[in-house]
Amino acid sequence: MPAAKAFYVTTPVYYVNDAPHIGHAYTTVAGDVLTRWHRQRRERVWYLTGTDEHGTKVERSAHEHGVSPEQWCDRLVNEEWLPVLKTIDAANDDFIRTTSGRHRRGVAAFWNRLKDNGYVYEDTYEGPYCVGCEEFKVAADLITDDAGVPLCPIHDKPVEMLSERNWWFRLSAFAEPLLEHYRRHTHAVEPRSAYNEVVSFIEGGLTDISMSRSSVEWGIPLPWDDEQVVYVWFDALLNYITAIGFSAPAGTPEADRFAHTWPADVQLVGKDILRFHAVYWPAMLMAADLPLPGKVFAHGWLLVGGEKMSKTKLTGIAPSQIIDVFGADAFRYYFLRAINFGSDGSFSWEDMLARYTSELANGLGNLASRATAMVVRYCDGVLPEPGHYANADRSLQDALIEAAAKADSAMLAMDFAGGIAAIRAFVEAVNLYLTEQEPWKLAKAPAQRERLHTVLYTMSESLRAIAVLYNAVMPTAMSSLWGQIGALPHLGELADQDVSEVERWGQLPPGAVMTKGAALFPRIEEQ
Ligand code: ME8
Ligand code: MG
Repeated sequence: MPAAKAFYVTTPVYYVNDAPHIGHAYTTVAGDVLTRWHRQRRERVWYLTGTDEHGTKVERSAHEHGVSPEQWCDRLVNEEWLPVLKTIDAANDDFIRTTSGRHRRGVAAFWNRLKDNGYVYEDTYEGPYCVGCEEFKVAADLITDDAGVPLCPIHDKPVEMLSERNWWFRLSAFAEPLLEHYRRHTHAVEPRSAYNEVVSFIEGGLTDISMSRSSVEWGIPLPWDDEQVVYVWFDALLNYITAIGFSAPAGTPEADRFAHTWPADVQLVGKDILRFHAVYWPAMLMAADLPLPGKVFAHGWLLVGGEKMSKTKLTGIAPSQIIDVFGADAFRYYFLRAINFGSDGSFSWEDMLARYTSELANGLGNLASRATAMVVRYCDGVLPEPGHYANADRSLQDALIEAAAKADSAMLAMDFAGGIAAIRAFVEAVNLYLTEQEPWKLAKAPAQRERLHTVLYTMSESLRAIAVLYNAVMPTAMSSLWGQIGALPHLGELADQDVSEVERWGQLPPGAVMTKGAALFPRIEEQ
C-alpha cells in the first residue's frame, strides 16, 4: 500500500535580523497545536519552521554588529531561534535555514526551471524599496512624512530608491489562472477578509516583478548570472519545497519525502506577508508546474500600543519574559484562547494573570489536585471499580461526547479559541459534577461506598479525557496529569492517545494507581 500523504504545515521562515519575539512564537505555537492535534488523530504529519537568512536587512544587522553575515546568522540561529523552539515546547519535524546547502541547491534548480519555462527575462528596475519589508513598492503602497519623504507604512521608515538591471519574473501571466484558482477554492485563503483582499488585489491587475538583485551581495547567486543574487523573497518562499526534497534525484529518500508531503495543507502566516504567500508564491508554483497549497491562513497581529509588535521597531517582548513567569503551557494556552485566530490582539500582563489564575490554577489545576487527593485519601490511591451509573454520571459522559466533537471540528478549522472553549466547558462540567455529587460526604457514609466509587471513577475518567483533549495545547502539564492519574502504564504515552476516540468511556482501568503530584499550574504571586 502506498504511504499516505503527510498533513503538511508550515510557518514563515523568520528573519534573523534580531532575536524572536512573541509574535513569531505565536505563529509557531499555532502550528504546533494544529499539528499535535492532527498527530493525535493518527494522521501522518510534517511540521516545518525555519529561518530566512539572506537579504539586505540581515546583512545590515550583521555589519552593525561588526560580524560577517555568516557569523551573525549562525549566532542568532544557535543562540536565539533554535532555543526558542524548546522554550515554547514546539515539536516541529524539521528546521530549514535558507543558507543551507539543500535550500541553495533547490533554489537554483527552481529558477532554472522557471527560466526554461519562459517566465524569466532581463530588464531594469527603478523604484522604491523597503528594506524592513524587503519589498519593491509602488507609490500607492507608501505614505509620506511631514516633510514629504515617502515612508513604508508598516515600518514608518523612508524607502530607498533603487535603479538596477535585474531579472524579472513574468507574474502578469498568472492573474487569470490565480483568479480561476481562487474562484474554485474559496477556502484556499483564510480568514474571509484575507481571501477578499487577495482576490481584489489580483483583480486590480498583476505586473511583472524583479526576481533578482544586482546591488546585494548576501544571497543565492543566480545559476545563469553570478553577478546577481535571487531576490530574498523569491529565495525564502522556496523553503517550503526545498526543505522536503524538491529537486532531489529520483529514488532518494528526499525525493520520496517530497512526493508524500507536497503540497502543503496549511501555510500559516501573519497578515503582513499575505500577498507574498497568496499571490506571488502560487504564481511561482504554477510557473514550475507544481500543485498549490491547500490553504494559506493569515492570522492577526500582536499589537503594542495599537501597532504591530516588531523587531525593526524594537517593540518585541521575548517569549521567555512571559514563560519564565507562567510556563510554556500557559503561554500556549493564553494566546490561542484570548485572541480569535485571524484577529489582532494585545498582550497584557493583567489579563494573562487573571486568566491564568481563574482558568488554569483555580480551574483545571485545582480540579486535578482535588481529584487525585480524593482517590489517594479514600481509596489508598487505587482507582476503584464504578458501580451503577446514575443520570448525573451519564450526563457527564454526554458532555464529553459533545466537547470532543466540538473541539475536533474547531481545531480542524483552526478555531483554536473555539476548541479550547469546548474543552474548558467540559472542565467546568466536571467541577460542577463534583460540587453536586459531594464525594467528601459520600466518603463518610459506609453505605454509600459503591456510589463513592462511581463518582471517583467518573471524575478520574473525565481527567483522562481532559488530558487527551488538552495535550495539543499544554503538553507538559497534561503529561504530568497523565502520570498523576496512573494512565501511563495502562494506556501508554499521552501523545499516542487517539483524540478521535477520546469520548469512549471506560478507558482508564480500575486499579490504576493515582498519586497527588506537583501542582499543574502553581499560583503566581502578584508583584
Ligand atoms: O516576514 N504579531 O519574517 P519576519 C503576530 N522572513 N505575528 C507576528 C508578529 C506580530 N506582531 N510579528 C511577527 C518575514 N509575526 C519573512 C518571511 S516566509 C517565506 C518569509 C510572525 O521575521 C508572523 O507570522 O518579519 C509574521 O508573518 C512573521 O512572524 C514575520 O516574520
Ligand atoms: Mg517582518
